[in-house]
Amino acid sequence: MRGKRIMAAGLLLSMSVLSLCACGRQYPVAEDKIYVGVAYYDKSDTFLNEFITCFQKEMEKGETFDGNATVTVRDAGSLQQTQDDQVKELINAGCDVLCVNLVNRTDPSEIINIARENDVPIIFFNREPVAEDMLQWERLYYVGADARQSGVMQGELAAEAIRENPQIDRNRDGKIQYVVLEGEPGHQDSIIRTENAVNTLKNKGIELEKLSCGIANWNRAQAQNRMMQMISRHQNKIELVLANNDDMALGAMDAYQKLNYTEAALPAFFGIDGTDVGLEAVREAKLSGTVYNDKEGQAAAMAQLAVAAVTGKGMEKIRFQDGKYIYLPYYKVTGDNVSDYSEESISTLQ
Ligand code: BGC
Ligand code: CA
Repeated sequence: MRGKRIMAAGLLLSMSVLSLCACGRQYPVAEDKIYVGVAYYDKSDTFLNEFITCFQKEMEKGETFDGNATVTVRDAGSLQQTQDDQVKELINAGCDVLCVNLVNRTDPSEIINIARENDVPIIFFNREPVAEDMLQWERLYYVGADARQSGVMQGELAAEAIRENPQIDRNRDGKIQYVVLEGEPGHQDSIIRTENAVNTLKNKGIELEKLSCGIANWNRAQAQNRMMQMISRHQNKIELVLANNDDMALGAMDAYQKLNYTEAALPAFFGIDGTDVGLEAVREAKLSGTVYNDKEGQAAAMAQLAVAAVTGKGMEKIRFQDGKYIYLPYYKVTGDNVSDYSEESISTLQ
């Protein structure tokens, strides 16, 4: 409620500034205030919740923007139609810039049209629209990370672990029997991460035997279910679990725990993200490794871009790829360096 009132005040303010700019709404905001609307696909997503918290802190801490920034967040509950409506509401409430994590990354046209009609720039994040859609309008941007890199790094981590710990090949047949837990089909990170992790392991000379692959939509509970099915089919043959994200790696571990497997009988698990729970599992040596999806870096880049897109200032300092993309690098995390990823260490690294 309170948020709504603030946004309504913002609407009046933007309108009064707007009416002074009869020539159009290029940079219509008062320099000391900006209103940012964030729309994301689903509030059950662990990584995105952490990412959005970082973004809010970033906007509010006053380093990126020394005025007053108001951030309003909407969760679409995995429905594109709901997100389209939320974006309309955010624009009607006077948002100066939108940060959109699409539900369906191939279906941004309605959002782009409304934003263009109102001349409100959009920064898509984490769920990357296809290239043609990004060309629909010049005030569209994307902030994310390179899926291929995360897959390669996961493969490298797994290859190193297998070389260092020959006992991972529990049946000693010289091959690693593995399963994959995949994110949503159609998400740029799912297929690309899997392909690159597996190819990297092969390129590193690790012989692999794929036992199974299950889609668990980034979700811990779904991953637990899928893993229970895989265990019942393959019993203790599974030596390696490659998960497209940490939540699914943790769900796989939950399945083994539920079945009371002893530690010695567990496969090696690898995730991607370095969420709080993911890093905790690395610290406890339950997760052999993860790949850090740099939410702090991405959130800082999105904040900087949001301010530049609204005020028109600072755009020249941003290093884009192809004029509208910002990709932050991933980092490998194992038990050896996980202490660099405590909250304090990350904030001092920035
Ligand atoms: C993250 C996942 C997350 C997904 C949501 C991916 O980049 O690794 O944890 O669920 O984005 O779009
Ligand atoms: Ca084996």
